[in-house]
Amino acid sequence: MKPRVLFLDHKGSLGGSELFLLDVAQDNLETSRVVLLSDGPFRKRLEEAGVEVEVLPAPGTVSGISREGGIRQDLLAVPGVLGLALRVAKLSRKYEVLYANSQKALFIGALAGMIANRPVVWHQHALLAGHSLNTDYYFSQAHRRLAIFLSNHLIKRVIANSKAAAEALVEAGGRAEQIRVVYNGIDSSPFEAVTETEVDDLRQELGLEGVPVLGAFGRITPWKGQDILLKALPDLPNVHALLVGEAAPEERAYAETIRRQSKDLGLEDRVHFVGFRRDIPQLMRLSEVVVHTSVAPEPFGRVIVEGMLACRPVVATRGGGVVEIIEDGANGVLVPPGDPKALAEALSGLLMDREKARALAEAGYETAMERFSLHAMLEGVTQQLQEVAARQ
Ligand code: UDP
Ligand code: GLC
Repeated sequence: MKPRVLFLDHKGSLGGSELFLLDVAQDNLETSRVVLLSDGPFRKRLEEAGVEVEVLPAPGTVSGISREGGIRQDLLAVPGVLGLALRVAKLSRKYEVLYANSQKALFIGALAGMIANRPVVWHQHALLAGHSLNTDYYFSQAHRRLAIFLSNHLIKRVIANSKAAAEALVEAGGRAEQIRVVYNGIDSSPFEAVTETEVDDLRQELGLEGVPVLGAFGRITPWKGQDILLKALPDLPNVHALLVGEAAPEERAYAETIRRQSKDLGLEDRVHFVGFRRDIPQLMRLSEVVVHTSVAPEPFGRVIVEGMLACRPVVATRGGGVVEIIEDGANGVLVPPGDPKALAEALSGLLMDREKARALAEAGYETAMERFSLHAMLEGVTQQLQEVAARQ
């Protein structure tokens, strides 16, 4: 029996943690609802999948909370947080468990759970210890202390998306007994279904016929380090880079910077910005290598597993959860973050040695199928939900 769950996420846009929730909510279709604190494409994708969704737009004082805001900003946010917590508490009465899928959702969810007397699970998709380069971290030192306090006292179970995320939490003061690691799992069927014709058509559509392509997938944001790939490109003559993903409104300056960078480096003909796409399996198949360039430790990195499922060799930066997926030289290649020379060297090595590239891709595919299946992830989440619901 699946427990009835109310999922809570603050985001309306689509990142890895939202795509994770999309899969989990679909697996709990009959017994769950998703509450979002802002509207956007995520709501549409959930609705398309038949998931019951409700948007409770957070007031500006709450959505604007940032690590730089200071105590004044935090105090101004208190009435908004309480108001949202009361509304979520009311909604949660029909459910057995509340599931906070983001850091901001934790604050609202922990209070709502207390008010409604419902157990709360927090899914930690980030490395709480934080990293100054990671612009996803909305939390200041004070916010982090509060998150740990809430987590230790009001949360029944924390799910971390990697051992690295779990360790960061413990290092920051979180209780190890309440943390479980559940890796992201990716549905392999859309990757298996890709046809040669689809890939050829896409190549033609994007003007990439007969050229080697490096595919970089992910949000355009400074910590994902797309600029490092552009800096590596001059050392890779005739190679094209496909940048798949878009920038959030607050990250548009970085998107502008890398467009300018590609112009300044004389790479305009070889760099292709294609925005947010849904045909990731096809675009990965079109790429010779899938490249991950995060300059801050990646908490997990779904794109790495996806590259493996597409049977492509993956080059990724060492750090965070990435080292739990890739064993350097065995099922992928690890490079130091922020080092264009090392990246260029690793990439040209793979482009020149097709045998090695194929062997890494095959081993990567096995890794993804064996250790990061959608089935294992859904089972892992269900197990946690059942344990928490049973204890109540
Ligand atoms: N993604 C997508 N379309 C894009 C770019 C990325 O659907 O144009 C997906 C990608 O396939 C992956 C997710 O966004 O599933 C990114 O997750 P990841 O864990 O790699 O990074 P995050 O954004 O969560 O930090
Ligand atoms: C976060 C992390 C990413 C992870 C995803 C899903 O967005 O940045 O590394 O893969 O959550 O857990």
